[in-house]
Amino acid sequence: MAIQWYPGHMHKAKKAIIERLKSVDMVIEVLDARMPASSENPLLAQLSRDKPKLKILNKQDLADPERTDLWLAAFNAREHTRAIALDASDRQAAQKLIAACRALVPNRKGVDKPLRVLICGIPNVGKSTLINGMIGKKSAKTGNEPGITKAEQRLFLADDFWLYDTPGMLWPKIIVEEGGYNLAAGGAVGRNALDEEAVALQLIDYLRRHYPADLQARYAADKNESSHWHDEAWLEWIGRKRGALLGGGRINYQKAAEAVLSDFRDGHIARITLETPNQWEAWLKAARRNEAALKAAREQRKAERKGGHRHHRPQEDGEAV
Ligand code: G4P
Repeated sequence: MAIQWYPGHMHKAKKAIIERLKSVDMVIEVLDARMPASSENPLLAQLSRDKPKLKILNKQDLADPERTDLWLAAFNAREHTRAIALDASDRQAAQKLIAACRALVPNRKGVDKPLRVLICGIPNVGKSTLINGMIGKKSAKTGNEPGITKAEQRLFLADDFWLYDTPGMLWPKIIVEEGGYNLAAGGAVGRNALDEEAVALQLIDYLRRHYPADLQARYAADKNESSHWHDEAWLEWIGRKRGALLGGGRINYQKAAEAVLSDFRDGHIARITLETPNQWEAWLKAARRNEAALKAAREQRKAERKGGHRHHRPQEDGEAV
């Protein structure tokens, strides 16, 4: 199963962002530190190619610190890009964010040259929490910008610091299957759009390979015994431990799946990051190969169909005459 996620009004949102990008000096993209690449919007990267970019790895308090360092180094090595890790609930977070913006575009300051910033991020990544921290109660002034999208907001953080908050997110086709699962595990995908059991099994699969000790500790599983368990056996164990049972002692897999997903989202298993830069690179390569193979197969079928038509045509022509 591949997770596909197409929020509505994609075309409209894309146009609005292209329009807005013309009049901003930089872009902040809020990412989930537990899945920085999965939560990064490839279309935004493409559209904002030449703009300075600040990547916020938010929810760092829930992410694996060693992996956060790897991701920061990977993003900081990119052109026009700076990355910082934050925990939006930290009181200093907003100040760090503002300082990072100022450092990225130092020539935009003063009322006649305000720093104009676009902020984007997938749902649930902590964008509102960060914005609220940045506006503070007193300085908050908001207004709708006509002509862009109805709900776009321009926030005046200071006379010379304007923040544009994009309401709609545009997302191209998710080609990296693992990325779709990670977004779903993190809670960015609406519940109706996903099969929680499949998402939980995929999460367990990753955890038992990369965070086995944390998984065993969280669910009090015997180290030796559980090292042989496959994903379903793990889900069953978690279901029993959590009392997710149906009549006759059967496991309620849906409840068990919900339990492991909410444990992950709330940081109750450990500080976990579901991808490293190298893993992402490998997934992306495999996904591209896969896409290319699918495309080639489609084209071959099309060519065969055409060939088939050509083959029949003389007969048809003959019949017509
Ligand atoms: P959004 O605008 O991007 O959709 O996200 P929002 O700020 O609403 O945050 C989504 C959830 O993530 C909130 O939890 C918020 O408290 C939490 N959150 C945001 N930033 C961080 C962070 O850096 N670390 C941690 N641990 N959590 C963060 P919620 O359960 O939906 O609401 P509530 O608990 O705040 O009431």
